[in-house]
Amino acid sequence: MSAKQSHEYDVLVIGSGLAGQSAALRLAESHRVALISKKTLSDSASSWAQGGIAAVLDPLDSIESHTDDTFTAGAGLCNPDATRYVVTHGKEAIEWLISKNVAFTPDGSTLGYHLTREGGHTHRRVIHVADATGAAVQKSLSDLVATHANIDVFENHIAIDLITSEKFGINPNRCVGAYVLDVGNDRVLTFAARSTILATGGAGKVYLYTTNPDIATGDGIAMAWRAGCRVANMEFIQFHPTCLFHPKAKSFLISEALRGEGGILRLADGTRFMPEHDSRAELAPRDIVARAIDFEMKRQGLECVFLDMSHQSASFLREHFPNIHARCMELGIDIETQPIPVVPAAHYTCGGIVTDLSARTDLAGLYAVGETASTGLHGANRLASNSLLECLVFAASATSDIKSSPPGAIMALPAWDESRVTDADEEVVIAHNWMELRRCMWDYVGIVRTTKRLERAAHRIELLKREIDEYYANFRVSNNLIELRNLVTTADLIVRSAQQRRESRGLHYSKDFPRTLPRALDTVLNSKR
Ligand code: FAD
Ligand code: SIN
Repeated sequence: MSAKQSHEYDVLVIGSGLAGQSAALRLAESHRVALISKKTLSDSASSWAQGGIAAVLDPLDSIESHTDDTFTAGAGLCNPDATRYVVTHGKEAIEWLISKNVAFTPDGSTLGYHLTREGGHTHRRVIHVADATGAAVQKSLSDLVATHANIDVFENHIAIDLITSEKFGINPNRCVGAYVLDVGNDRVLTFAARSTILATGGAGKVYLYTTNPDIATGDGIAMAWRAGCRVANMEFIQFHPTCLFHPKAKSFLISEALRGEGGILRLADGTRFMPEHDSRAELAPRDIVARAIDFEMKRQGLECVFLDMSHQSASFLREHFPNIHARCMELGIDIETQPIPVVPAAHYTCGGIVTDLSARTDLAGLYAVGETASTGLHGANRLASNSLLECLVFAASATSDIKSSPPGAIMALPAWDESRVTDADEEVVIAHNWMELRRCMWDYVGIVRTTKRLERAAHRIELLKREIDEYYANFRVSNNLIELRNLVTTADLIVRSAQQRRESRGLHYSKDFPRTLPRALDTVLNSKR
């Protein structure tokens, strides 16, 4: 990319996962787009998605059924309008992907595509590309994005903060761009844009153990919060029940589709335990399965439990789960005959930046799409494979809103001010605080919470926040510092939300408030109050 210090675009898209790339492609039909990605185009949770995308495609399935399953998983907190909106647009979203050359796994059905099943779904409705759906989808979109004349891609560029007009005395307030660190050249660029889309993904890295890639540091949520947007339902962090437990496997997911195809969860002695916890057994929604595993591990002092796939034929496993089969085999686990050691790990951020059906945030000119947003679809617990669908549907609605709204002005923006900072003297502060934060969240704000643990976490996070803010004020920004600052903000939002919820619901389980209150209410935090 050019050596220019400042850039002007119709739309600035921050993030190159499914939300960001699909928005960029749709916009590029009529707008000049900058697509910023903090690593490479393919470094995203989207690229790691395994199971697939939930949508009503089978003629025997129905919008009502998918909607009801989403409501049930969401434990009474799903926004009915958002849920119906997403589910109704599911088929269209899949057709759009097929038009972009995504080759979903075929079969001999009338539909022509194999549909798998996952926890919480009462019907087979998850379309997929074997067990590496995200990689296939992202590859098809990246091929188009990288060569599109109207899209400029900026890899290894990390957004630091949004720029709002209010800071220059221009009201009504709107988002007019962002400051972005060009990591390779160690300089901060200014991006001015008529509209900005945050598509920065989730915040799994706030926990010590996670299925998420390293980019998942809650940057969009923290940036929007600092810019004055409301953030909702952050206490609902989804723990995936089955992350591979092996010293050499960092963050490798064992897809829920294995349980969808009959996988059985067992203790080390072979005992099946899920039927004791829920009548849906292994196919109960994720919050229930993860809590059951956590309960069994704590009760028996176990390091992990096991997922047994030995009822399926070798050919079925190799055809449907080639990547999981190969990765386990590399680590000496033959899933055809041996149970897979698994543990729960932080997987998905259900809450995020409050958005409406057009993906608009509280700040004019700023949209949020994908895992960074809180659309209301997931309620207190996301239904499996609804996330990729949400990315696609809201990328489409954001882009049609941008196309049909009067364009905002491009403002002349001041350059990033480095006059009061120097080079960092002690990088160890960042590494230490990063580790301390993630361990604190794992130990005190995990699958099962108590008032005392949340108080401990809040106290430590406050200290960390002060130290990190001071460091940020005095030293030049770096990739790690930007991420740590965002992680500590996100952790603070999670803990504050968890402290406000005086009940147990969906993914938020408190030993001190085990009951679910009759009325389901969102936890909405407002930085302006
Ligand atoms: P991401 O795909 O995470 O992309 C975020 C992008 O933002 C990245 O490009 C990142 O580099 C960039 N970024 C972040 N911060 C900045 C910044 N400050 N500056 C510049 N760029 C930035 N969901 C399903 O529906 N089905 C599945 O089968 C499924 N499987 C999953 C398997 C795994 C292992 C994981 C981790 C998740 C899975 N999920 C699945 C969830 C789903 O993948 C994610 O929720 C979804 O991909 C999020 O997409 P996104 O575009 O919002 O964010
Ligand atoms: C999985 O394949 O288990 C992940 C599906 C999801 O997170 O929706």
